[in-house]
Amino acid sequence: MRTIIEPFKIKSVEPIYFTTREERIEILKEAHYNPFLIKAKDVIIDLLTDSGTSAMSSGQWAGMMLGDESYAGSNSFFHFENQVQKITGMKHVIPTHQGRAAEKILFSIIGGKGKYIVSNTLFDTTRANIEFSGAEGVDLLCEEGKQPSLVAPFKGNMDVKALENFILEKGAANIPLVIITVTNNSGGGQPVSMANLRMVKEICKQHQIPLFIDACRFAENCYFIQQRENGYKSKSILEIAQELFSYAEGCTMSAKKDAFANIGGFLAMQNEPLAMECRNLLIITEGFPTYGGLAGRDLEAIAIGLEEVMHQDYLKYRIRSIEYIGEKLEAAGVPFLKPTGGHAIYLDAKAFLPNIPPREYPGQALCAELYLEGGIRGVEIGSLMFGKYGADGQLIPNNMELVRLAVPRRVYTQSHIDYVAEVIIDVFKKREGIRGFRITYETPFLRHFTARFERVK
Ligand code: F0G
Repeated sequence: MRTIIEPFKIKSVEPIYFTTREERIEILKEAHYNPFLIKAKDVIIDLLTDSGTSAMSSGQWAGMMLGDESYAGSNSFFHFENQVQKITGMKHVIPTHQGRAAEKILFSIIGGKGKYIVSNTLFDTTRANIEFSGAEGVDLLCEEGKQPSLVAPFKGNMDVKALENFILEKGAANIPLVIITVTNNSGGGQPVSMANLRMVKEICKQHQIPLFIDACRFAENCYFIQQRENGYKSKSILEIAQELFSYAEGCTMSAKKDAFANIGGFLAMQNEPLAMECRNLLIITEGFPTYGGLAGRDLEAIAIGLEEVMHQDYLKYRIRSIEYIGEKLEAAGVPFLKPTGGHAIYLDAKAFLPNIPPREYPGQALCAELYLEGGIRGVEIGSLMFGKYGADGQLIPNNMELVRLAVPRRVYTQSHIDYVAEVIIDVFKKREGIRGFRITYETPFLRHFTARFERVK
């Protein structure tokens, strides 16, 4: 088989600045050992996120020039609305400035004290918006999804038995929504199968609970369905997406992921009264319903991106480029979450640094080391992001300690990726000397963005 090449040519480039290890020691100290506090210019390969970091296509840039900036009823809105409706079949499409704004609006309306929002796994901003409303977020991930080294095709699936039990225990009246994240970002970018979605839908229907989809990475999920699930080989990504959304009453999406946009998002749904309520809140927080918090040119870029992301050649290259890092790490014995997911490689920090206990944040220690060794920036997805304090003030750790290296779409070439694998393998060889961290400053919500650290002696 020949090399699967990038299905694009490069028209415009951005320089990378190279720091030395000595410089990085100082930079990391100044950033209080938190990668979010490092300046982007001081990063060689930035794998902090795949969100808003995509390279736009020449088609999208051309679309930006066609952006209609009318306050109400702009052409760009209708282009955007058509495209979202074509994929999701949702009647009401509400633009927002990014995914979490859609979440904020939705959960302000349907959340609240005493309510439970159930998911396969909620992303951090989704959970935070649920909790901020007073409701509780509940993750019911399938058992395979909790074992980093286990290879299974759909580790993002929901545990349907657990869902049924949970509904019986808490009562359907207290569960305003079930939301399935595709792919499951916090659980390794793992896909959800169509069969699982169908079962979840069946249960929701029995109990009259609406099902929503967190659709940030819907196209990557659909590609996995096409490749791995019986009966989808000959279907197009659009057809698969249309079926996927047909089981849902609504969705939230950050267009900063699978729409190749640098900003944007939306909320879409079938239910008219709920859509009216959402639009009312949108007007006081985001903007008029035909622009949300966006410029017309952003709506145009999203509409075009949503079409491009479903191209078969693109998705084949995209998923392969992640798998490729996995193959290199596997050959060197580096522990990572298997199989590789859609948008990132997730190093298993618990297995990588077994001597560092969760209360000393092994994921954060590994992030620091990747930066020092090669100027690579990743993010901890473990007890720093999702840990809670018990009544006794002790940390209740997350079940996995991961470091996510998210690959921006269409940005890095194969040699960048080769470099990343080399740096990870070098850190792995030196893993014995790595020490953990203690938090010196933190906030009550989303603490990982701003927390400060010092090394444990
Ligand atoms: N849902 C999922 C599954 C996400 O991954 C994100 C963002 C959001 C919702 C919120 O969207 O950022 O546009 O407000 N994830 C980014 C990440 C931040 O790095 O994974 P947003």
